[in-house]
Amino acid sequence: MDKSAKDPAKIQTMFSKIAPRYDLLNRLLSLGIDSHWRKFAVGQLPKVNNARFLDVATGTCDVALEIVKRYPDAKVTGVDFSEGMLELGRVKVKRAGLEDRIEVRFADVTALPFEDNTFDGVTIAFGIRNVQDFKKGIAEMGRVVKPGGRVVILEFTSIQNRFFRRPYRFYITKVLPFIGEMISGKKGAYKYLPSSMLEFPGPDEFKKAIEETGLQDVRYYKLTLGVAAVHVGTKGE
Ligand SMILES: C[S@@+](CC[C@H](N)C(=O)[O-])C[C@H]1O[C@@H](n2cnc3c(N)ncnc32)[C@H](O)[C@@H]1O
Repeated sequence: MDKSAKDPAKIQTMFSKIAPRYDLLNRLLSLGIDSHWRKFAVGQLPKVNNARFLDVATGTCDVALEIVKRYPDAKVTGVDFSEGMLELGRVKVKRAGLEDRIEVRFADVTALPFEDNTFDGVTIAFGIRNVQDFKKGIAEMGRVVKPGGRVVILEFTSIQNRFFRRPYRFYITKVLPFIGEMISGKKGAYKYLPSSMLEFPGPDEFKKAIEETGLQDVRYYKLTLGVAAVHVGTKGE
């Protein structure tokens, strides 16, 4: 993929354009599995009383909402750099009556507006592959998490199962852009999605990249035949 495809301004505009249909397309294109993946990721956060969590690239706030459901005394800050996505996220949070527990604000993954060691855990779901300098983004998440806290990254990964690889490739390069464009009415976005998914590093390579940012005890869990993976890293004490 051409590096300029991940130009932050382009990514920002693309997500703001597809925002109105984003949730619907997520459920449809993943056949509803995406909610289970997010639940699994949220389950990797540390169990701490009155925890303060950060969900980066929160988009329409699905992960932030899942966190408060799972951890009844926790508070979450959700940040994203697409105002279009955040607007929808704010509506969902308000509708759920959770404005006192979920703060939604604008921020870039690569320059988080928080002090070092602020959060008990940081999550990012389907966001990191869109970040041009993804190691910088992970380093930022590591910076704002407290020592002993965790960074949890849910992302698509290159599929390893050789029987499933071909039909999966067909699905994401042909079916997915077709349905995506039809429903969103936006051409480019659902062409970018397959290439960003296929070109993202495999789970071992990604694990190494996370370790290079300084996080420790990095492990990963493959989900649904390796379509997605959750990587978890811990900040040293
Ligand atoms: C595929 S959506 C995922 C949204 C949400 N986490 C979810 O699970 O549905 C990717 C999100 O990442 C955001 N994003 C991409 N690069 C970003 C960056 N550098 N800083 C902040 N947000 C970013 C986009 O605006 C978009 O909302």
